[in-house]
Amino acid sequence: SIIMVLNGPNLNLLGTREPATYGHETLADVEAMCQATAESLGHQVECYQSNHEGVLVDWIHEAGRRIKTGEVLGVVFNPGAYTHTSIALHDAIIGAEVPVIEVHISNVHAREAFRHHSYISPVAAGTIVGMGVQGYLLGIQGLVAKLGK
Ligand code: DQA
Repeated sequence: SIIMVLNGPNLNLLGTREPATYGHETLADVEAMCQATAESLGHQVECYQSNHEGVLVDWIHEAGRRIKTGEVLGVVFNPGAYTHTSIALHDAIIGAEVPVIEVHISNVHAREAFRHHSYISPVAAGTIVGMGVQGYLLGIQGLVAKLGK
C-alpha cells in the first residue's frame, strides 16, 4: 500500500533551519529515506509538504478517501507548529478516520512550554518525538506494524 508522509509549515526548510535542533538532512533527503524504508517493508510512500493549514486538511481528507479504497495504509504526519494550534487538523483526522502517526523531529517536551501541548496527539494512532529525522522511519515502521499485512 501507499503511506502518505505529510509535512507542515517550515519543514521545507529542513537542512538549513536550526540544524542543531532539526539536523542537516534536507526534506528531499528525508523523503528518500522514507521511500527506502517503505520499500524494504513492501510498501510505497507519497510525500507532501505545505505551509498552509487548509492544504494539509485537504490531504488528510484525501488520505481518508484512499484508505477506504484500500490504496492507502495511513499517514505519517509532522504538522510543525500547527501541532500546537490546529483544531482543524484535529477534526480532519477524526472526521476522515485516518490512522496518523504523529512525528516530531525534536523533543518538543524539552522545549518551550507552548510546544508541550498537541492537538494531534489525542487523535493519533501513535506519536514519535525527539528521535531526529529517524522518527519518520520509525513512524513508517510503526504504521506497518500496526496496520500492514
Ligand atoms: C516540530 C516541532 C514543532 O514545535 C515546530 O513548530 C516544528 C517542528 C518538530 O518536528 O520537532 O515546526 O514539529
